[in-house]
Amino acid sequence: MKVINEVTGILNLLYTHGWDERNGGNLSYILEEEEVKSVCDPNVVLRTFEYDFDMTSIIGKFFIITGTGTYFKNMVAAPEVNLGIIKIIDKSHAALVWGYSEGGRPTSESPTHLQCHIERLKQDPNHRLVIHCHATNVICMTHVCPLDSNFFTEKLWKMQTESIVVFPEGVAVLPWILCGGTQIGIETANLMKEYRSVIWAQHGIFCTGKTLDEVFGLIETIEKAAEIYMKVYDKKIYQSITNENLIEIAQAFKIDYRHGIID
Ligand code: 13P
Ligand code: ZN
Repeated sequence: MKVINEVTGILNLLYTHGWDERNGGNLSYILEEEEVKSVCDPNVVLRTFEYDFDMTSIIGKFFIITGTGTYFKNMVAAPEVNLGIIKIIDKSHAALVWGYSEGGRPTSESPTHLQCHIERLKQDPNHRLVIHCHATNVICMTHVCPLDSNFFTEKLWKMQTESIVVFPEGVAVLPWILCGGTQIGIETANLMKEYRSVIWAQHGIFCTGKTLDEVFGLIETIEKAAEIYMKVYDKKIYQSITNENLIEIAQAFKIDYRHGIID
């Protein structure tokens, strides 16, 4: 049950940071079979779910995934009601092996989650995690900034020294698109070829990576930079981080940052 405690712990932190009001946000995390065995019998199929895109490359993988309509604030108290463990059993079906004990089903954003996993695994075989949340200041920025990935990346890099170190590839931005379906998943996963973080205008952010700490830290860092931006952008700024400063940071920390924005 260690993995359940780790996942519910992160979901609780996302809630207490104010980024997952009501049922906002969702998480999916690739589990090793041994981790699944510590929770349930991985071969007992409780129910199945159908998807309308090709999941061939992730057949056999297990995911712990938040249920649709569930509240992050309730995860610690009732994980088996609010979370499920699914196994991808063929090109278009997933089997539930644990959880959703009161009849729930995977998040409405599971098409995006699963398509992002498919894409990120091509980029990084150690990839395991996708978190979507409604980070407040990231959403604020999408109301007042041009919806351009390089614009967001440059502003976020220049708000604080840590940004370019934590997300050297930058952030991608999508315009408002109806959420909860396969199409927004296709668009998001397409950007995940180059980015670990994709912002949905007037909605929130999807962040991906290897571990719970890494992805939570990525969200924290992007949201912190967005908070600083929202506090200063309409004030007279006397000094800020320059292009030369950013290049100096990248050289000092051996950071392979996205080119074409500050140089
Ligand atoms: P779910 O309750 O289906 O996970 O949806 C929450 C959400 O954030 C939609 O984008
Ligand atoms: Zn959402």
